[in-house]
Amino acid sequence: MSKNLVKQGAEARIYTTSFLTRTAIAKERFKKAYRHPTLDKKLTDRRLVQEARCLVKCRSIGIDAPAVYFVDLENRTIYMEYIEGKTVNDLLADGSKITAEESDELARKIGEALAKMHAAEMIHGDLTTSNLLIRDANNSLAIIDFGLSFITTCSIEDKAVDLYVLERTFLSTHPHAHHLFLTMLKVYGESYDSGNSITGKEKKYGWLG
Ligand SMILES: Nc1ncnc2c1ncn2[C@@H]1O[C@H](COP(=O)(O)OP(=O)(O)O)[C@@H](O)[C@H]1O
Ligand SMILES: [Mg+2]
Repeated sequence: MSKNLVKQGAEARIYTTSFLTRTAIAKERFKKAYRHPTLDKKLTDRRLVQEARCLVKCRSIGIDAPAVYFVDLENRTIYMEYIEGKTVNDLLADGSKITAEESDELARKIGEALAKMHAAEMIHGDLTTSNLLIRDANNSLAIIDFGLSFITTCSIEDKAVDLYVLERTFLSTHPHAHHLFLTMLKVYGESYDSGNSITGKEKKYGWLG
């Protein structure tokens, strides 16, 4: 099976490959030499399982995410559906032209997906615009990279921190798209019961202020 390296991250290498007859992504977490091997294996296994669990849970509640094909604990690798598309980071990059309508539409999709995810007591843990993909096929918003995620009866504070991480990405990387973040927050707030008590944490988390 041939593999092509797409990205070398801090925790994992991302390859495109095939799984049975399908184009797939292989996400291989590597060993950290500075960690004790037993602890390293434990942490890596936990993240692999967490990631697979959250991807499956997302799909089961109607949030778009890559389908999980196989979890290979021995080789620290998750095989998942390859999503043909662009990251939101790419869509908002300098020079890419996004109209006001497209921006509102994108904000709505992100707000609704995050509200659904939080209503299901799932915290992503690393919400950046590189972890949100728009599918070429149908413009659906898919969430990826659940390695730091957890499912719990989580507090309002956990959810606000999840949004705060995304806010930091907009502050540092997308200064021209602050309105998109604010529209996203509004949609998020309206989309589920506790939404407004989370977006109401403005004083503490800034919300671009
Ligand atoms: N299932 C997928 N389909 C298409 N592209 C993906 C998929 N998973 C990851 N990628 C691409 O690889 C990049 C890194 O993957 P990610 O899971 O976010 O790992 P990291 O922990 O290194 O950020 C993503 O930003 C995206 O561009
Ligand atoms: Mg990522």
